[in-house]
Amino acid sequence: MTTSSTRSEPATETASDVAVAVDGLRKEFGQLTAVDGVSFTIRDGEFFTLVGPSGCGKTTLLRMLAGLEDETDGSISIDGADMTAVPAEKRPTSMVFQDLALFPFKNVFENLTFGLKMQGESKSVRRERAEEMLDVLDLQGYADNEIEELSGGEQQRIALGRSLLTEPDLLLLDEPLSSLDVKLRKEMQLELRRIHDDLESTFFYVTHDQEVALTASDRIGVMNDGKLVQVGTPREVYEEPATPFVAEFIGDTNLFEGEIDEADGTTVETDSGLEIVAADRDDIPDSGRGFVSVRPERITVSESSVDADNSFEGTVADRIYQGDDITYEVTVGDVRLQAEQPAADGDDLLARGDTVGVGFDRESAYVITE
Ligand SMILES: Nc1ncnc2c1ncn2[C@@H]1O[C@H](COP(=O)(O)OP(=O)(O)O)[C@@H](O)[C@H]1O
Ligand SMILES: [Mg+2]
Repeated sequence: MTTSSTRSEPATETASDVAVAVDGLRKEFGQLTAVDGVSFTIRDGEFFTLVGPSGCGKTTLLRMLAGLEDETDGSISIDGADMTAVPAEKRPTSMVFQDLALFPFKNVFENLTFGLKMQGESKSVRRERAEEMLDVLDLQGYADNEIEELSGGEQQRIALGRSLLTEPDLLLLDEPLSSLDVKLRKEMQLELRRIHDDLESTFFYVTHDQEVALTASDRIGVMNDGKLVQVGTPREVYEEPATPFVAEFIGDTNLFEGEIDEADGTTVETDSGLEIVAADRDDIPDSGRGFVSVRPERITVSESSVDADNSFEGTVADRIYQGDDITYEVTVGDVRLQAEQPAADGDDLLARGDTVGVGFDRESAYVITE
């Protein structure tokens, strides 16, 4: 798996760079705490994605930004203005829903410009703005088509365009791609990013799909059980997960719990019986309990022993062919390791039961202490 490159970030953050500031936000539904003391900022023009498992509080947080849900505690400001007393219809936000909510019996033009009509724009202005938006959406010439004639991906783009045409300061997107099939979803991920870049608007996107988060976003917030666990660029969150939950939720990983020993470099004696030499860092404690995370694509599997800081002998337990790459499950003692390799030459594939060398360098072993 690949992560998008780290995008450039301003060295300092001034008040005018901040589009959204959320501080100590909390939402209780009776006994249940859906959002549990969340604080973060979104920069002007940023594509910010909130990612986390179903039920962790993403939609509730997004609805609070839109003004559709009152906060139990904490505050939200958008473009420097406190939103507490501002009703939904007065907020500078617009929402794109999972179920699109397009009008099936209206054509593309009528759907696209519905918000503008509500705002009282004349038909000629609406025509002009619709044509511009169809350009951005790469749907030139579709104005007079019926909604039902469009494919799922085209309808998705119309729903997005309709929200964008009202020129919100903040566009709120709640899992807008989850009804699309995998191929279309991948295409739309890239489209979303392109449209965002064209319009320089601020996107707040929520999804349980970590792949969308990694490919499309400037920064990601990872949420679990009502709490924001980590905020960072896709690369930071993938390479330097703050907790075992983040390591396992964003991408695949081999995660081991064990005892940290900093006496002679950083090593972790895993409870499963491996001694792993890990990357040195200043923030790792000298001793105590911890985790070490090793991404499958960082582990080499070979017929002969692997020359690396961590090198073991193992047995191929399983092999999962995925076209462009192949995942080997290798047992080392009682441990089952997942290793992902490019599937180069069919003749070189290792078979179940083969004795193999497995290895990875210390830089690929990331220590996590909560
Ligand atoms: N209106 C509501 N009344 C009671 N509980 C709710 C309400 N809305 C959401 N919840 C609960 O709050 C939690 C978070 O829900 P939600 O924000 O929809 O999560 P997500 O979007 O991450 O799947 C869930 O346990 C959900 O059942
Ligand atoms: Mg939701």
